[in-house]
Amino acid sequence: MQISLVGVGLMGAAMTERLLTLGHDVVVYNRTKAKCEALQQRGAVLARSAVEAIQSSSCTILMLSDAAAIHDAVFAAGKPDFQNRTVIQMGTIAPSESLALGRAIRSGLGDYFEAPVLGSITEARTGRLVVMVGGQAEHVARWNEVLTCFCHESVLVGPIGQAAALKLALNQLLAAQMTAFSVSLGLILHSGIAVETFMTVLRHSSLMASMFERKLPRMLDHDYANPRFSTGNLLKDVRLSLDAAREAKVATPSLDGIRDVFEHAVARDLGDLDYAAVFESVVPQAGHHP
Ligand SMILES: NC(=O)c1ccc[n+]([C@@H]2O[C@H](COP(=O)([O-])OP(=O)(O)OC[C@H]3O[C@@H](n4cnc5c(N)ncnc54)[C@H](OP(=O)(O)O)[C@@H]3O)[C@@H](O)[C@H]2O)c1
Repeated sequence: MQISLVGVGLMGAAMTERLLTLGHDVVVYNRTKAKCEALQQRGAVLARSAVEAIQSSSCTILMLSDAAAIHDAVFAAGKPDFQNRTVIQMGTIAPSESLALGRAIRSGLGDYFEAPVLGSITEARTGRLVVMVGGQAEHVARWNEVLTCFCHESVLVGPIGQAAALKLALNQLLAAQMTAFSVSLGLILHSGIAVETFMTVLRHSSLMASMFERKLPRMLDHDYANPRFSTGNLLKDVRLSLDAAREAKVATPSLDGIRDVFEHAVARDLGDLDYAAVFESVVPQAGHHP
């Protein structure tokens, strides 16, 4: 089947590779054309604009950074005709932003639902993402062939906005875990305890998260190149989660602190690097320890 994909950053490129591997025809658009070259070599067709990509296929996946990027890419040149087109928004945006996007697309006679994802590049390439649908059961039924390229079975969370809300609830947990693990590692390094002893005890406890194991080598080596998920995008999610928490009247002091740590990391030019780089803000002296 032919599918368009707008936004071939880290995730969009991996998702396009997955669609191509499964034999689909893929039309891609990206603001920075160079990121499309490797995908074109694998058979993807380049659209000149996001609107052209949307009009090329009955179904378009949006995998852009945020709502501002969606606006710039899709709506900056006017209101496109979405007739007989379905847009599946798979990036991480606020519930209210997703609802507004749905209204804009429906007013252009198109169909819309959200399907934000958990997991990263490796899971995207291998079809092991968790895909959370905010929309109607008919959306899942109609577009199951697309959704199951990225997961075994998608999860229908509820109407538009609810999958976006679930994604934010989960990503604030990711940011909290990353900052908390950074604090623990900073204490361990300062005390002179062997990192392997710390990890052995952690592995035997219910506190263990697989993310700790994956990010530890980067933190010890201070190497955050080739990001899986950027510090800047996780800061965006923390800010969106804070908005959601305020609206839900959930106390925010801990999340305020996490936002401050991520803002500090971005101010230190770590925004485009892997989000494990937040360790450098939590433990700025870490490089001085063995
Ligand atoms: N990476 C992950 O592990 C992961 C996992 C789950 C969800 N997500 C979410 O998925 C979305 C994409 O993530 P990513 O990691 O692929 O991010 P990314 O590598 O930073 O890619 C962002 C994409 O948005 C485009 N973009 C940004 N601003 C734009 C603008 N003003 N106009 C047009 N295009 C613009 C970029 O185009 P250029 O190439 O031209 O900059 C690029 O295609 C984000 O919402 C992120 O939070 C990411």
